[in-house]
Amino acid sequence: MKQARIGLIGLGTMGSALALNIAEKGFAIAVFNRTAEVTRAFHANAGALAERILPTESLKDLVAAIARPRAIILMVPAGPVVDEQVAALRPLLDKDDLIIDAGNANFNDTNRRVAASGGPFLGIGVSGGEDGARHGPAIMGGGNHAYWDRVSPILEAISAKFEGEPCAAWMGPEGAGHFVKTVHNGIEYADMQMIAEIYGLMRDGLGLKDREIGDAFAKWNNGTLESYLIEIAGIVAATVDPATGKPLLDVIVDAAGQKGTGRWTVIEAQHLASPVPAIEAAVAARNLSARRAERAEAEALFGRGAGRIGGGVTPDVLEQALIAGKVMCYAQGFAMLAAASTEFGWSLRLPEVARVWRAGCIIRSRMLNDMAAALAEDSRRNLLLAPFFTALVRDTQGALRQVVAEAVRAGIAVPALGSGLAYFDTLRTARGTANMIQGQRDYFGLHGFERTDTGAKGQHGPWAG
Ligand code: 6PG
Repeated sequence: MKQARIGLIGLGTMGSALALNIAEKGFAIAVFNRTAEVTRAFHANAGALAERILPTESLKDLVAAIARPRAIILMVPAGPVVDEQVAALRPLLDKDDLIIDAGNANFNDTNRRVAASGGPFLGIGVSGGEDGARHGPAIMGGGNHAYWDRVSPILEAISAKFEGEPCAAWMGPEGAGHFVKTVHNGIEYADMQMIAEIYGLMRDGLGLKDREIGDAFAKWNNGTLESYLIEIAGIVAATVDPATGKPLLDVIVDAAGQKGTGRWTVIEAQHLASPVPAIEAAVAARNLSARRAERAEAEALFGRGAGRIGGGVTPDVLEQALIAGKVMCYAQGFAMLAAASTEFGWSLRLPEVARVWRAGCIIRSRMLNDMAAALAEDSRRNLLLAPFFTALVRDTQGALRQVVAEAVRAGIAVPALGSGLAYFDTLRTARGTANMIQGQRDYFGLHGFERTDTGAKGQHGPWAG
């Protein structure tokens, strides 16, 4: 075989799938894994694609196997391992060889790595899990645009397609690609939390069986909620445990894992002063889910509140509530991207972000196509203020209110749906209640306030008493 077009380090689940995808699209690829046995097994199992895969057993051999200027994808655990790998590779590379971190990196690390003088570096967010990596992920690129252009033919070829358009694009400089991927994951957390809350309302509030819950999700997947996460929620709910014959969901421990991207979204949102309460609620709910012993103790003390919900809440109403809740999650996520773009001077193209998310990634959905259209009209406007979504929320917010109200009455926790509703109610209240906070701040700290009538700023009491 002649030299490979690209290299890849890290043949774990995602790395293997990505390498096979690259080979399948016609690009010769050299691969390396720390454990040589893994590389050999990967090559041996690659079937017809093996002829386009060059297995190598040292970094030196890997580098030698790739055509110049080289491009090498790292698919290794995020964090120090990436730095170690870069440090080991750089001395073997030419000065214009490109390293591409395709893991779920913290964008602050990617900023630092792009700025480091060692050589060209791109940070790309890859979404879609193993299946996406193998057959077409969404790819969010960040770093120097010229470096992206060097590898974009490969990345576009392997990416998912939405109506023929590749779901791979350069998002912006520095760590912009990983930032966009982080917010993608934050939205993923909120979307999944809302789906879990709706599942809980069907299970505990309406007393539906898992099969019926699966059917409801499957039905919703033919409508406005059509999305990968709703599709798999239906499949998950309908699956039977082969060992016990029970619904598989009933034997899964109710403590959610997390690798940190949701938390990073919340932390960065706080730095940007960009409100993402549905994502915050989702991260907090995962944290609370992990505290099983504490929850068991509290249930023993207080009794659980999972009463039946009434008030005319049916699966159809839950569907409408979920539509409204989903719009709130995405409005918050896109607003956060807009804030980051301004703060970091990235000129993020939000319609392009929505377009890249339409296929391949975990949050892919029909609604993202409408979001891309709404953002193309005005990318700086809150999604709720775009006519399409204003109409959708007008139609569905009543259901969200009804569902949250009934859940509260029955003692069923709906943190993400509830915070989505509070976000909506806050946003649509032109005169809120922060005047009281300003009054108190001035009272105890002379922080000053602005007057509504004259517009004068830095005003103080006198406060009675
Ligand atoms: C994706 C997923 C992917 C992964 C997350 C899950 O876009 O393909 O988001 O990145 O599944 O790491 O994150 P948690 O383990 O934090 O749920």
